[in-house]
Amino acid sequence: MDKPIPNNFLNDLEPYKGGASSVNGIEKIFKLSSNENPFGPSDSVVNAYNDALKDITIYPDPSNKLLVSKLSEFYSINPNNIICGCGSDEILHLLARAYLSGNDEAIVSENSFAVYPLAIKASGARIVRAKELNFQTQTEAILGLVNNSTKMIFIANPNNPTGTMISYEDLKDLHKKLPSNVLLIIDEAYIEYVNDNNYSSFISLVENNNNVVVTRTFSKAYGLAGLRVGWAYCPSEVINVLGRLRIPFSVNSTAQKVAVAAIDDQKHILKSIDHNNLWLPKITKELENIGFHTIPSSCNFVLFEVSEKLSFDANYVFDFLCSKGLILRQMHEYNLPNFLRLTIGNDEANTLLIESLRELSK
Ligand SMILES: Cc1ncc(COP(=O)(O)O)c(C=O)c1O
Repeated sequence: MDKPIPNNFLNDLEPYKGGASSVNGIEKIFKLSSNENPFGPSDSVVNAYNDALKDITIYPDPSNKLLVSKLSEFYSINPNNIICGCGSDEILHLLARAYLSGNDEAIVSENSFAVYPLAIKASGARIVRAKELNFQTQTEAILGLVNNSTKMIFIANPNNPTGTMISYEDLKDLHKKLPSNVLLIIDEAYIEYVNDNNYSSFISLVENNNNVVVTRTFSKAYGLAGLRVGWAYCPSEVINVLGRLRIPFSVNSTAQKVAVAAIDDQKHILKSIDHNNLWLPKITKELENIGFHTIPSSCNFVLFEVSEKLSFDANYVFDFLCSKGLILRQMHEYNLPNFLRLTIGNDEANTLLIESLRELSK
């Protein structure tokens, strides 16, 4: 019997798998699997959330005017070039849908964020992966893969799951050497955590180039992953296309108002960054002491390898930490089965983690 047939390029598309959030039989857990802010939102942001509930009967503002104008004021950027989305994931998918199809190619780094290959595949285009060196994105390797079919390049800076970053100069050089019809997407989801003089946002390049897009999110340092708000700064022609493609109310009214309140509370962001600066080196050192190989991170998480020389493997470490209520991220879907990724938690989670690691290595 005949049946509806989806586009054949969707046949090998796997659904996105998020980090685990529960462990059978363990009541108190710390979710260290999705790089969320362990403090969550601040009191003023929770108040804004409660206040926003009175408006949920009416449709949200489809232009996200209040949020766009707050972003424009805070970052001193042009409001006409800002688009908001249901997480930055929505915008990444919109970009792929708008600019990729059939025989096109899009380049990603070897160990890049899992949403890029999904968005590329969902648009029917081909994924091309550029080799990394020590988990560092190699701009020369990316340039070497550019050809007449290349339409787009996705780079997370810093990158998830590796945590590594590319210097502003290297990225600027990559952009300078790219053909102007190739859209360069720089995903700055973890920018707030970067602590390196060679790093700088790419936002200022958007204004003078028609092939650079920068995406940002409220899901990480801003502590609002569950509300689903992200945004992008785009050249005018890109904004125009995405504005026609997007669904009208993808950012709900509560999310719009709460995101504005979150920008207004920069004290909370600074507190979150200080916390990360304190714990990231401590935890990295602890992991190294056990004999794990850590990848230097500019983010609120660290990727590490459970070396074959140890008497246990990554699955064992994952299960052992789960039994303590600490849920890390397994890396099988990233093709790194002997690695785990660990988000920096609150003081209690981090202390428990260190105690548990010491117990593991006894
Ligand atoms: C590099 C990177 N970009 C984007 C996202 C998605 O962010 P959002 O929650 O805004 O969709 C993530 C989330 O893990 C990420 O790691």
